[in-house]
Amino acid sequence: MLLVRVEGARTRQAWCDLLERMCPGLAARPFDAPEVRPEEVRYVLTWGPPPGWLAGLPRLNAIFSLGAGVDHITADPSWPSHVPLVRMGGEEPGQRMGEYLAWACLTLLRHGRTFAIAQAERRWDYKVGEDTARDLTVGIMGMGSLGAAAVPMLRGLGYRVIGWSRSRKALEGVESFAGAEELDAFLVRSDVLVCLLPSTPETAGIVNAGLLARLRPGAGFVNAARGGHVVVPDLVAALDSGQVSGAVLDVFDPEPLPAESPLWSHPKVTVTPHVASVARREARARYVAEAILGFEAGGPLPNLYDPARGY
Ligand code: NAP
Ligand code: GLV
Repeated sequence: MLLVRVEGARTRQAWCDLLERMCPGLAARPFDAPEVRPEEVRYVLTWGPPPGWLAGLPRLNAIFSLGAGVDHITADPSWPSHVPLVRMGGEEPGQRMGEYLAWACLTLLRHGRTFAIAQAERRWDYKVGEDTARDLTVGIMGMGSLGAAAVPMLRGLGYRVIGWSRSRKALEGVESFAGAEELDAFLVRSDVLVCLLPSTPETAGIVNAGLLARLRPGAGFVNAARGGHVVVPDLVAALDSGQVSGAVLDVFDPEPLPAESPLWSHPKVTVTPHVASVARREARARYVAEAILGFEAGGPLPNLYDPARGY
């Protein structure tokens, strides 16, 4: 049996119907169905389960995260870390993240926030910048699967793309920087810094005053990873001083972004509600169904969380 634990009774049932259709022989149930007996549950598909819930399922083969990030599961100190934890993957999340990053970089380049404010005030605010995308370098901090998927789209627009990760990458047309010792060389080359890091103890608060000061003056910033990567007062100070010219932020800590946050009304900040890469239910269900069918046939599970790395 597979249990679905996501928001909304109708949504849970829709997931169950899809998964049963795509995975013959699988019984998929909403987590709160009366017939569920914890010892019969082999798989879970979830986002943000309450602490302690997973620990109450004693015979799990695998936990599927509804997203690529798994911090919403590993934040529970009692989560059964001996159970394989599968991160969401497949082609569609990369396509969607690439689209979001292309839009974010272009909205920074073409003054999207300035024009949105001017339009709301019925003001003709004529503004054409000097640069085109061909003049700019996008630095992707966290050049993993989503970053790699975005590369061809950004390069197609004319941007140069560089990446920073723990291990060195060989991606066509992308200069790769690796490890803490190469972070400064990466930052100084970035006209637009994109954060796509996983949430780990090493990456918490990484976008702080010190890091922002090492960017090219007037750089743009895009955060499509997790809110905890950014020290918000430091970002606001860098925006106010002009060290950072604009920011597009999709993720926050906490979410939803509280009404009193200065980010909502900042004239250089575009806020989106954690929508950068939300793949269609069908695409995600197919990914889960194929993983289960492969596993039941004796194959390995894909895209596993690695406790040693923390992502
Ligand atoms: P991924 O494939 O695991 O890539 C993570 C990248 O970060 C890897 O390149 C990794 O380096 C690098 N990294 C990790 N820790 C590092 C460190 N301490 N220093 C330098 N580099 C480090 O993950 P992904 O699938 O691309 O997803 C990335 C994140 O995006 C997720 O964790 C999630 O938080 C976020 N996300 C957001 C949305 C949204 O809608 N906003 C949607 C999906 C995902 P190595 O390659 O060397 O391991
Ligand atoms: C969304 O934030 C994800 O981790 O997929």
